[in-house]
Amino acid sequence: MATILRDWSYRYQWLYDGISRLAAFSVGGEARFRQLALQGLTINSDNQVLDLCCGSGQSTQFLVKSSQNVTGLDASPLSLRRAQQNVPEAAYVEAFAEKMPFADNLFDVVHTSVALHEMQSEQLQKIINEVYRVLKPGGMFTLVDFHAPTNPIFWPGVSLFLLLFETQTAWQLLKTDLPNLLTQIGFKVGKPTLYAGGSLQVIQARK
Ligand SMILES: C[S@@+](CC[C@H](N)C(=O)[O-])C[C@H]1O[C@@H](n2cnc3c(N)ncnc32)[C@H](O)[C@@H]1O
Repeated sequence: MATILRDWSYRYQWLYDGISRLAAFSVGGEARFRQLALQGLTINSDNQVLDLCCGSGQSTQFLVKSSQNVTGLDASPLSLRRAQQNVPEAAYVEAFAEKMPFADNLFDVVHTSVALHEMQSEQLQKIINEVYRVLKPGGMFTLVDFHAPTNPIFWPGVSLFLLLFETQTAWQLLKTDLPNLLTQIGFKVGKPTLYAGGSLQVIQARK
C-alpha cells in the first residue's frame, strides 16, 4: 500500500516536517507532540539518551535540551546527514534498531517516536529485545506511535493518513498490544496514555 507521497515525504524533509506539523495539531502542536512521551520523566544532563530511529532529528532536538549525551540511531544515511545538520549537539550512529552496536546496560533512556509502526512483527520483537538489552536496569523506554482510534470520528482521518503515507506494518501496529509485548520481554509498563481520539499511544516502560 502507500502512495508516492510516502517516498516524497522521505525525500523532501520540508514535506515530512509539514505533514508532522499538521498531524501534531491533533495534540496541540509539534512541540507538545514531540515531548508527550517524555512527560513526567527526569532526564539529567549526564544521562545517556538514545533517540532510536531518529530520522532527521525531529525528536532529538528536544532531547538535547535535557541531556548532553544524546545519540541518534537510524538506518538511513540521508536522514542521519540531515539530523547531523539539524541537531549537531547529538552524536549519530548508522545501524539497524534490531542489531544495535551498543554495549549492554548503556542507556538511561531510550526514546522512539513514530517509528515502530514501520517494523514487521518479528523485527518489532527483536527491536524491543535490543532496547531491553541496551537499557540500564531501571532505565526507561519511552515511545509514541499510532494506536487504533477509540473515538470513531478519528478513523477516517487515520485511515486516509495510513493509506497515503504508510505501509501494511502501520495497520499491523494498530492490532498489536504493545504493552503486552513489552511486558513479555521484561519491562514494567505503565498504562498507555492515548491522545487524538485514541489514535496515538504514549508508553513509558521501565527495565
Ligand atoms: C517515520 S520516521 C520517524 C523519524 C523521527 N523519529 C520522527 O519522530 O519523526 C521512521 C524512521 O525509522 C527509520 N528506520 C526504519 N526502520 C529502521 C530500522 N530497522 N533500524 C533503524 N532505523 C529504522 C527510518 O529510516 C526513519 O528515519
